[in-house]
Amino acid sequence: MTDITDEAPAIAEAENILLWAAGRNPGRWVAHSRVAARAAKVIAENCRPAAVNPLSGRGLNAQRAYIFGLLHDIGRYEGQRYMHHIIAGYELLHKKGMDLSARICLTHSFPYQKMESYLGARDCSAEELAFIESFLSVAVYDDYDKLIQLCDAVALPEGVCLVETRLIDVAMRYGFSDYTREKWKAVFQLKEYFSGLCGQSIYELFADEVRRNSFSL
Ligand SMILES: [Fe+2]
Repeated sequence: MTDITDEAPAIAEAENILLWAAGRNPGRWVAHSRVAARAAKVIAENCRPAAVNPLSGRGLNAQRAYIFGLLHDIGRYEGQRYMHHIIAGYELLHKKGMDLSARICLTHSFPYQKMESYLGARDCSAEELAFIESFLSVAVYDDYDKLIQLCDAVALPEGVCLVETRLIDVAMRYGFSDYTREKWKAVFQLKEYFSGLCGQSIYELFADEVRRNSFSL
């Protein structure tokens, strides 16, 4: 994989895809995607140079992280779907030749690497479920996968919040499962992992908005 330092055209393309998807299915998911993208960019920019992405052998590219955040939920263009948004996003971006972004559509919902941990309806065909399951059984997450999993878990449409705020927000909408505890543990580990790479709590990077969105100040 080549390391692209100026991804401006790719960012413009990603913005256009998001605008197209928002036109088909407007909703809070669009603002959530923008917050996740911004959070991913800021965290990537603040990771110490020693933080190395195993795929490229280089540090995280903040522009690429931004694109991944922008497109992680793009499968929601289909309308009110649940697990199927993962497949829809993957297929849409795969067809466009955006394989790295397509991969993020698959990985972002599984910080705990088991399909059963997904909260919400499994509105996929048997074939699609088998595809997700076999992907997850062999996937080795890189730092971009992990970064978007984390950013998904701190991105309210209004802005960045505590992991706890967002996890409760999701649980209030979709409920709990036998895997919820493991999934929450995985998300907290991601927060610790990136705080370590940044040499400070990731919340310090978004202090004002975290205060506003998690403490209503
Ligand atoms: Fe998301």
